[in-house]
Amino acid sequence: MKILVATEKPFAAAAVNGIKEIAAGAGHEVVLLEKYSDKGELLSAVADADALIVRSDKVTAEVVAAAPSLKIVVRAGAGYDNIDLQACTERGIVAMNTPGQNANAVAELAIAMMIFMSRNQFNPGTGGEISGRKLGIQAYGNVGRLVAEKAMALGMSVMAFDPFVPEDKMRSEGVTPACSLEQMYSECDFISLHIPATPQTVGSIGYDLMSRMPKGACLLNTARKEVINEAELVKILSDRPDLKYVADVAPACYVELEEKFGRQVFATPKKMGAETAEANINAGLAAARQIAAYFSDGCTRFQLNK
Ligand code: 3PG
Repeated sequence: MKILVATEKPFAAAAVNGIKEIAAGAGHEVVLLEKYSDKGELLSAVADADALIVRSDKVTAEVVAAAPSLKIVVRAGAGYDNIDLQACTERGIVAMNTPGQNANAVAELAIAMMIFMSRNQFNPGTGGEISGRKLGIQAYGNVGRLVAEKAMALGMSVMAFDPFVPEDKMRSEGVTPACSLEQMYSECDFISLHIPATPQTVGSIGYDLMSRMPKGACLLNTARKEVINEAELVKILSDRPDLKYVADVAPACYVELEEKFGRQVFATPKKMGAETAEANINAGLAAARQIAAYFSDGCTRFQLNK
């Protein structure tokens, strides 16, 4: 079988080598499409692919239609808002992600961002410490849990809001369950977002929630830029010059934000949460193993479109 690895943002070399080894061991061939700038390159490359490994690359209905042999697509990562699951299902293509595999890298970035914003983005002037501060985790999944663990080790107290996780589990891990998002935003010095981008969450974080944050609080977004209501973000930052916003991947209005709010805001130029060799290796190799297991045994663990 031909496995296409299509990564506009390439994996570390060690991850690519590992994917090739796993594929070769299972009798498959790997074709690489890296750093492509044109959608047309992806459409041509998928034409004879049996399997596809991507990162945030968009697997649209058009891509699916251009891939007549495609049987499985694996998003090497957690968020799968880039995959048209319906188009895959209609064609009988199995879609998977690799949950948890890059979670530590994202969690470390969230911690780094808290310190970076507390220390004036490493510019001169008196900053603050995160020890003793309260962190609110919005969505206590693979990343949220790791952020909580690291934050507690650094002396923070942690609260989390996640209607899908039992409160006892949070408590047993030293985390206080929040009764509501409103309560969490009102009480926490930092809020770290770990929600996926879904029709329910897109644009869901805006003026109302941020206006509840205590003086000097900071909102961290290592999730998806789409979950922020950008017009309301501009308004609250303007009404509350004490608040801060830091994001892994710039919002569409970032030029305006930087001009208006200076060091109240910071965004990475390109999404870098999962940009570690370790995360690339974990997620890339997991994707290759999942494809090999699907072809050999029909294994559909981690299938998203069941
Ligand atoms: C994810 O959803 O796994 C992260 O956002 C990482 O995305 P990336 O593979 O494009 O860096």
